[in-house]
Amino acid sequence: MMNMHKRDICIVANWKMNQTLEEIKSFFIEFSKMKMDLKCKAMIAPQFIHIPLLKDLSFTTGSFLVGAQNASHLEKGAFTGDISPLALSDMGCDFVILGHSERRAFFQESDELINQKILLALKHHLKVIFCVGETLEEREAGKTNDVILSQLTKGLHGVDLSLGQVMIAYEPVWAIGTGKTATTAEASDVHAFIRSHLGEFAEKISILYGGSVRPDNIDSLLNEKNIDGALVGGASLKASDYIQLCLAGSRFQY
Ligand code: PGA
Repeated sequence: MMNMHKRDICIVANWKMNQTLEEIKSFFIEFSKMKMDLKCKAMIAPQFIHIPLLKDLSFTTGSFLVGAQNASHLEKGAFTGDISPLALSDMGCDFVILGHSERRAFFQESDELINQKILLALKHHLKVIFCVGETLEEREAGKTNDVILSQLTKGLHGVDLSLGQVMIAYEPVWAIGTGKTATTAEASDVHAFIRSHLGEFAEKISILYGGSVRPDNIDSLLNEKNIDGALVGGASLKASDYIQLCLAGSRFQY
């Protein structure tokens, strides 16, 4: 028996620092052939500079939301090279991924900074995909739940979850881009733990899994009642794989 989901199932493509114009063009030639009403939400986060192009393409194909992979914690001013959530919202961006482990590790983003980013993005009506996850070292030391709880508590400080604008993505750092997926049991345990700490709106919040999600493992992940979708890096770059992931998402959407 399939475990159908009443919460929104989201299949989010995190393209990271990939995709040339040519590659984007080929991706959408294939993606638009799909010509079907997806029951789940297809969401794509390209590099900032490609957001307007994807917005245009989304008007043509009408079947996906467009987002950013990061945003500033500040609204405007002399901050060379930063991108304001206000500018993203102006460009018609639908959502933003915040707190990704690559931002935490390579750009030293703290929980407090991520919290400021979340609050400002919400102020500008962007949906937020807030990422949390433990490193291998933390998992092996038995600290997974402590790390997740601390990231959740600090990241969501002062955030109004009743607005339904926040999704959580659980991404074990050791599973990102490594080909190692958490077992469904490992992922499911952490998802249940996260949900138990989201307060009175917990049942309404989609919790996505990320880390080496592929067409061959998505079904077993989505079959878990607390896994409401996926945040996908590598496998989202190839249209045929991404389409398969979206079709899987649609099969599990109530
Ligand atoms: P991956 O990346 O699917 O390549 O493991 C996931 C992510 O970083 O969001």
